[in-house]
Amino acid sequence: MLIRVPKGWQIPEREATPESVYLERRRFLGRALGVAGLAAVGGTGCLQGALDPQARGFPAKLDAPRNSKFRPQRRITRYDIATGYNNFYEFSLDKQAVARLARDFKFRPWQVEVKGLVEKPLKFDVDDLIRRMKLEERVYRFRCVEAWSMVIPWVGFPMKQFIDWVKPTSRARFVRMVTFNRPSEAPGQRSQPHYPWPYFEGLTMEEATNELAMVVVGMYGRALPNQNGAPIRLIVPWKYGFKSIKSIVRFEFVRNRPPTFWNQAVPNEYGFVANVNPAVPHPRWSQASEQVVETGERIPTLPFNGYQDYVADLYS
Ligand code: MTE
Repeated sequence: MLIRVPKGWQIPEREATPESVYLERRRFLGRALGVAGLAAVGGTGCLQGALDPQARGFPAKLDAPRNSKFRPQRRITRYDIATGYNNFYEFSLDKQAVARLARDFKFRPWQVEVKGLVEKPLKFDVDDLIRRMKLEERVYRFRCVEAWSMVIPWVGFPMKQFIDWVKPTSRARFVRMVTFNRPSEAPGQRSQPHYPWPYFEGLTMEEATNELAMVVVGMYGRALPNQNGAPIRLIVPWKYGFKSIKSIVRFEFVRNRPPTFWNQAVPNEYGFVANVNPAVPHPRWSQASEQVVETGERIPTLPFNGYQDYVADLYS
Protein backbone atom coordinates (compact mmCIF):
# COMPACT_ATOMS: atom_id res chain seq x y z
CA MET A 1 0.00 0.00 0.00
CA LEU A 2 1.25 3.43 -0.85
CA ILE A 3 1.05 5.80 2.03
CA ARG A 4 1.48 9.37 0.91
CA VAL A 5 3.16 11.54 3.45
CA PRO A 6 2.36 15.14 2.58
CA LYS A 7 5.24 17.57 2.44
CA GLY A 8 5.21 20.37 4.99
CA TRP A 9 4.12 22.88 2.39
CA GLN A 10 1.11 20.76 1.43
CA ILE A 11 -0.46 21.17 4.84
CA PRO A 12 -2.58 24.30 5.14
CA GLU A 13 -0.83 26.42 7.77
CA ARG A 14 -3.93 26.64 9.94
CA GLU A 15 -4.40 22.89 10.08
CA ALA A 16 -0.76 22.22 10.71
CA THR A 17 -0.99 24.08 13.97
CA PRO A 18 -3.76 22.84 16.26
CA GLU A 19 -3.17 19.15 15.64
CA SER A 20 0.46 19.37 16.68
CA VAL A 21 -0.37 21.48 19.66
CA TYR A 22 -0.25 19.12 22.58
CA LEU A 23 2.36 16.79 21.14
CA GLU A 24 4.68 19.75 20.89
CA ARG A 25 3.57 21.34 24.09
CA ARG A 26 6.11 20.02 26.52
CA ARG A 27 9.01 20.77 24.19
CA PHE A 28 7.85 24.38 23.96
CA LEU A 29 7.27 24.75 27.66
CA GLY A 30 10.70 23.32 28.40
CA ARG A 31 12.37 25.82 26.13
CA ALA A 32 10.27 28.86 26.96
CA LEU A 33 10.01 28.47 30.71
CA GLY A 34 13.33 26.99 31.68
CA VAL A 35 13.74 24.64 34.61
CA ALA A 36 11.55 26.50 37.10
CA GLY A 37 8.70 26.69 34.63
CA LEU A 38 8.95 23.00 33.82
CA ALA A 39 8.72 22.09 37.47
CA ALA A 40 5.54 24.12 37.74
CA VAL A 41 3.99 22.28 34.79
CA GLY A 42 4.07 18.98 36.64
CA GLY A 43 4.48 15.38 35.53
CA THR A 44 4.07 13.71 32.18
CA GLY A 45 0.95 11.99 30.91
CA CYS A 46 -2.17 13.57 29.45
CA LEU A 47 -0.85 13.57 25.92
CA GLN A 48 -3.38 10.89 25.02
CA GLY A 49 -6.74 12.32 24.11
CA ALA A 50 -5.04 15.62 23.54
CA LEU A 51 -5.41 15.15 19.81
CA ASP A 52 -9.17 15.52 19.91
CA PRO A 53 -9.71 19.26 20.06
CA GLN A 54 -13.37 19.06 21.13
CA ALA A 55 -12.52 16.64 23.93
CA ARG A 56 -9.91 19.08 25.15
CA GLY A 57 -12.51 21.82 25.35
CA PHE A 58 -11.24 23.76 22.36
CA PRO A 59 -13.53 26.59 21.24
CA ALA A 60 -16.11 25.94 18.53
CA LYS A 61 -15.06 25.93 14.87
CA LEU A 62 -15.51 29.21 13.06
CA ASP A 63 -14.75 28.78 9.42
CA ALA A 64 -14.00 31.81 7.33
CA PRO A 65 -12.16 32.15 4.02
CA ARG A 66 -8.60 33.39 4.26
CA ASN A 67 -7.93 36.80 2.79
CA SER A 68 -4.62 36.05 1.09
CA LYS A 69 -3.80 39.70 0.52
CA PHE A 70 -2.12 39.80 3.91
CA ARG A 71 1.04 37.72 3.99
CA PRO A 72 3.17 38.15 7.08
CA GLN A 73 6.26 36.51 5.47
CA ARG A 74 6.76 34.53 8.64
CA ARG A 75 5.64 31.18 9.96
CA ILE A 76 2.35 31.05 11.85
CA THR A 77 2.88 30.65 15.58
CA ARG A 78 1.76 27.31 17.01
CA TYR A 79 -1.70 27.37 18.61
CA ASP A 80 -0.51 26.27 22.04
CA ILE A 81 1.95 29.14 22.22
CA ALA A 82 -0.51 31.79 21.05
CA THR A 83 -3.04 30.55 23.60
CA GLY A 84 -0.59 29.77 26.41
CA TYR A 85 1.41 32.97 26.63
CA ASN A 86 -1.01 35.85 27.14
CA ASN A 87 -1.23 39.38 28.41
CA PHE A 88 -4.62 39.79 30.05
CA TYR A 89 -4.11 41.73 33.27
CA GLU A 90 -7.73 41.25 34.34
CA PHE A 91 -6.68 37.68 35.18
CA SER A 92 -2.95 37.76 35.95
CA LEU A 93 0.38 39.34 35.20
CA ASP A 94 1.75 35.85 34.74
CA LYS A 95 1.40 35.10 31.02
CA GLN A 96 1.33 31.36 31.55
CA ALA A 97 -1.35 31.54 34.25
CA VAL A 98 -3.89 33.54 32.24
CA ALA A 99 -5.43 30.60 30.35
CA ARG A 100 -6.11 28.68 33.59
CA LEU A 101 -7.45 31.70 35.47
CA ALA A 102 -9.75 32.72 32.59
CA ARG A 103 -11.09 29.20 32.03
CA ASP A 104 -14.24 29.52 34.12
CA PHE A 105 -15.02 33.16 33.44
CA LYS A 106 -18.40 33.46 31.68
CA PHE A 107 -17.80 34.97 28.26
CA ARG A 108 -21.29 34.07 26.98
CA PRO A 109 -23.96 35.34 26.79
CA TRP A 110 -22.18 38.60 25.95
CA GLN A 111 -23.84 41.95 25.38
CA VAL A 112 -22.11 44.68 23.38
CA GLU A 113 -23.17 48.30 23.51
CA VAL A 114 -22.64 51.01 20.88
CA LYS A 115 -23.19 54.54 22.10
CA GLY A 116 -22.13 58.18 21.82
CA LEU A 117 -22.11 59.99 18.49
CA VAL A 118 -24.06 57.41 16.47
CA GLU A 119 -27.32 57.71 14.59
CA LYS A 120 -28.89 55.02 16.72
CA PRO A 121 -27.36 53.65 19.95
CA LEU A 122 -27.43 49.84 19.94
CA LYS A 123 -27.17 46.92 22.32
CA PHE A 124 -26.86 43.41 20.93
CA ASP A 125 -25.68 39.91 21.68
CA VAL A 126 -22.23 39.21 20.28
CA ASP A 127 -23.46 36.13 18.42
CA ASP A 128 -26.04 38.23 16.56
CA LEU A 129 -23.22 40.51 15.48
CA ILE A 130 -21.10 37.56 14.36
CA ARG A 131 -24.00 36.28 12.24
CA ARG A 132 -24.50 39.70 10.70
CA MET A 133 -20.89 40.41 9.69
CA LYS A 134 -18.97 38.80 6.83
CA LEU A 135 -16.17 36.84 8.46
CA GLU A 136 -12.72 36.36 6.98
CA GLU A 137 -9.37 35.07 8.14
CA ARG A 138 -6.24 37.22 8.07
CA VAL A 139 -2.75 36.19 9.09
CA TYR A 140 -1.13 39.14 10.81
CA ARG A 141 2.13 39.78 12.58
CA PHE A 142 1.58 40.67 16.23
CA ARG A 143 4.17 42.76 18.10
CA CYS A 144 3.92 43.40 21.84
CA VAL A 145 5.48 46.52 23.34
CA GLU A 146 7.49 44.13 25.54
CA ALA A 147 9.49 43.20 22.40
CA TRP A 148 8.13 39.74 21.66
CA SER A 149 6.15 38.73 18.61
CA MET A 150 3.92 36.08 17.09
CA VAL A 151 2.05 35.49 13.81
CA ILE A 152 -1.65 34.74 14.23
CA PRO A 153 -4.46 33.72 11.85
CA TRP A 154 -7.31 35.85 13.18
CA VAL A 155 -10.98 35.42 12.23
CA GLY A 156 -13.14 38.51 12.21
CA PHE A 157 -14.28 41.39 10.06
CA PRO A 158 -12.85 44.77 9.08
CA MET A 159 -13.73 47.36 11.70
CA LYS A 160 -14.94 49.54 8.82
CA GLN A 161 -17.69 47.02 8.10
CA PHE A 162 -18.86 47.38 11.69
CA ILE A 163 -18.61 51.19 11.63
CA ASP A 164 -20.59 51.38 8.38
CA TRP A 165 -23.31 49.38 10.09
CA VAL A 166 -23.51 51.42 13.33
CA LYS A 167 -23.26 54.76 11.47
CA PRO A 168 -21.40 57.26 13.65
CA THR A 169 -22.35 60.88 12.98
CA SER A 170 -19.94 63.29 11.25
CA ARG A 171 -19.09 64.77 14.67
CA ALA A 172 -17.35 61.52 15.76
CA ARG A 173 -13.56 61.77 15.62
CA PHE A 174 -12.53 58.86 17.85
CA VAL A 175 -13.82 55.47 18.89
CA ARG A 176 -13.33 54.43 22.50
CA MET A 177 -13.54 50.75 23.49
CA VAL A 178 -14.00 49.32 26.98
CA THR A 179 -13.53 45.84 28.52
CA PHE A 180 -15.73 44.23 31.21
CA ASN A 181 -15.39 45.20 34.86
CA ARG A 182 -16.12 42.11 37.02
CA PRO A 183 -13.55 42.08 39.85
CA SER A 184 -15.37 39.36 41.78
CA GLU A 185 -14.71 36.95 38.87
CA ALA A 186 -11.48 38.33 37.38
CA PRO A 187 -8.70 37.85 39.94
CA GLY A 188 -6.35 40.39 38.36
CA GLN A 189 -8.90 43.18 38.69
CA ARG A 190 -9.16 42.33 42.40
CA SER A 191 -5.49 41.93 43.16
CA GLN A 192 -4.35 45.02 41.22
CA PRO A 193 -6.71 47.76 42.39
CA HIS A 194 -4.13 50.43 41.49
CA TYR A 195 -4.91 49.97 37.78
CA PRO A 196 -7.69 52.16 36.30
CA TRP A 197 -10.16 49.32 35.50
CA PRO A 198 -11.94 48.57 33.30
CA TYR A 199 -9.34 48.41 30.47
CA PHE A 200 -10.06 51.05 27.82
CA GLU A 201 -8.50 51.98 24.51
CA GLY A 202 -9.11 54.30 21.60
CA LEU A 203 -8.44 54.94 17.93
CA THR A 204 -8.97 57.88 15.60
CA MET A 205 -11.77 57.33 13.09
CA GLU A 206 -9.12 57.24 10.33
CA GLU A 207 -7.31 54.43 12.14
CA ALA A 208 -10.51 52.55 12.93
CA THR A 209 -11.64 52.64 9.30
CA ASN A 210 -8.23 51.72 7.92
CA GLU A 211 -8.40 48.45 6.01
CA LEU A 212 -6.09 46.69 8.51
CA ALA A 213 -8.15 47.37 11.65
CA MET A 214 -10.06 44.23 12.51
CA VAL A 215 -12.75 43.28 14.99
CA VAL A 216 -11.76 39.74 15.91
CA VAL A 217 -14.00 36.92 17.12
CA GLY A 218 -11.76 33.91 16.45
CA MET A 219 -8.30 32.55 15.73
CA TYR A 220 -6.96 29.39 14.04
CA GLY A 221 -10.40 28.70 12.60
CA ARG A 222 -12.06 28.58 16.03
CA ALA A 223 -13.87 31.04 18.29
CA LEU A 224 -11.54 33.15 20.45
CA PRO A 225 -10.27 31.26 23.49
CA ASN A 226 -11.05 33.06 26.76
CA GLN A 227 -7.43 34.00 27.35
CA ASN A 228 -7.15 35.69 23.96
CA GLY A 229 -10.02 38.07 24.58
CA ALA A 230 -13.24 36.14 24.01
CA PRO A 231 -15.68 36.75 22.60
CA ILE A 232 -14.71 39.94 20.73
CA ARG A 233 -11.53 42.02 20.56
CA LEU A 234 -9.65 44.48 18.45
CA ILE A 235 -6.58 43.80 16.29
CA VAL A 236 -4.56 46.71 14.92
CA PRO A 237 -1.35 45.01 13.72
CA TRP A 238 0.71 48.14 13.04
CA LYS A 239 0.42 49.18 16.68
CA TYR A 240 1.87 47.66 19.84
CA GLY A 241 -0.28 44.85 21.20
CA PHE A 242 -1.69 46.81 24.13
CA LYS A 243 -3.85 48.82 21.69
CA SER A 244 -5.61 45.56 20.71
CA ILE A 245 -8.13 45.58 23.55
CA LYS A 246 -9.73 42.27 24.53
CA SER A 247 -13.25 41.25 25.58
CA ILE A 248 -14.94 44.47 24.49
CA VAL A 249 -18.32 45.38 26.01
CA ARG A 250 -18.67 48.91 24.62
CA PHE A 251 -17.82 50.96 21.56
CA GLU A 252 -18.34 54.66 22.06
CA PHE A 253 -17.96 57.30 19.36
CA VAL A 254 -16.65 60.56 20.75
CA ARG A 255 -15.48 64.01 19.70
CA ASN A 256 -12.35 64.36 21.83
CA ARG A 257 -9.37 62.04 22.13
CA PRO A 258 -10.24 59.54 24.85
CA PRO A 259 -7.78 58.56 27.59
CA THR A 260 -6.32 55.04 27.39
CA PHE A 261 -5.61 52.49 30.12
CA TRP A 262 -1.83 52.22 29.80
CA ASN A 263 -1.34 55.91 29.16
CA GLN A 264 -3.27 56.66 32.31
CA ALA A 265 -1.44 53.99 34.35
CA VAL A 266 2.13 54.83 33.17
CA PRO A 267 1.97 58.05 31.11
CA ASN A 268 5.72 58.37 30.47
CA GLU A 269 5.92 54.86 28.94
CA TYR A 270 2.76 54.37 26.85
CA GLY A 271 1.15 56.84 24.48
CA PHE A 272 -2.13 57.02 22.60
CA VAL A 273 -0.73 56.42 19.11
CA ALA A 274 1.66 53.54 19.98
CA ASN A 275 2.69 52.61 16.44
CA VAL A 276 5.41 49.96 16.26
CA ASN A 277 8.62 51.91 15.75
CA PRO A 278 12.09 50.34 16.00
CA ALA A 279 13.70 53.79 16.13
CA VAL A 280 11.99 54.87 19.33
CA PRO A 281 13.08 52.86 22.37
CA HIS A 282 10.77 52.19 25.28
CA PRO A 283 12.17 54.11 28.30
CA ARG A 284 13.36 50.78 29.73
CA TRP A 285 14.40 48.75 26.65
CA SER A 286 15.17 48.93 22.95
CA GLN A 287 12.47 48.38 20.35
CA ALA A 288 14.98 47.76 17.53
CA SER A 289 14.42 44.00 17.61
CA GLU A 290 11.91 41.48 18.92
CA GLN A 291 11.96 37.90 20.18
CA VAL A 292 9.91 35.36 18.23
CA VAL A 293 8.17 33.63 21.13
CA GLU A 294 8.02 30.23 19.47
CA THR A 295 11.71 29.92 18.58
CA GLY A 296 13.44 32.42 20.82
CA GLU A 297 15.04 33.91 17.68
CA ARG A 298 15.68 37.69 17.64
CA ILE A 299 14.66 39.51 14.49
CA PRO A 300 14.69 43.18 13.53
CA THR A 301 11.51 45.10 14.25
CA LEU A 302 9.95 46.75 11.21
CA PRO A 303 8.43 50.25 11.15
CA PHE A 304 4.66 49.93 11.61
CA ASN A 305 5.36 46.23 12.19
CA GLY A 306 5.79 45.82 8.43
CA TYR A 307 2.47 47.46 7.52
CA GLN A 308 3.78 50.88 6.46
CA ASP A 309 2.24 50.62 2.98
CA TYR A 310 -1.20 50.52 4.54
CA VAL A 311 -0.89 53.09 7.30
CA ALA A 312 2.14 55.39 6.98
CA ASP A 313 0.10 58.10 5.25
CA LEU A 314 -2.21 58.32 8.28
CA TYR A 315 0.65 59.91 10.18
CA SER A 316 2.41 62.04 7.61
N1 MTE B 1 -6.93 43.79 26.72
C1 MTE B 1 -7.36 43.74 27.99
N2 MTE B 1 -8.67 43.91 28.24
N3 MTE B 1 -6.51 43.49 29.04
C2 MTE B 1 -5.16 43.34 28.83
O1 MTE B 1 -4.41 43.14 29.81
N4 MTE B 1 -3.33 43.30 27.21
C3 MTE B 1 -2.88 43.86 25.93
C4 MTE B 1 -3.81 43.45 24.78
N5 MTE B 1 -5.20 43.65 25.14
C5 MTE B 1 -4.67 43.43 27.50
C6 MTE B 1 -5.61 43.63 26.45
C7 MTE B 1 -1.52 43.46 25.60
S1 MTE B 1 -0.28 44.24 26.49
C8 MTE B 1 -1.22 42.57 24.63
S2 MTE B 1 0.38 42.27 24.15
C9 MTE B 1 -2.28 41.80 23.97
O2 MTE B 1 -3.58 42.09 24.48
C10 MTE B 1 -2.01 40.29 24.14
O3 MTE B 1 -2.90 39.55 23.37
P1 MTE B 1 -2.78 37.95 23.35
O4 MTE B 1 -2.79 37.47 24.76
O5 MTE B 1 -3.93 37.47 22.55
O6 MTE B 1 -1.45 37.66 22.69
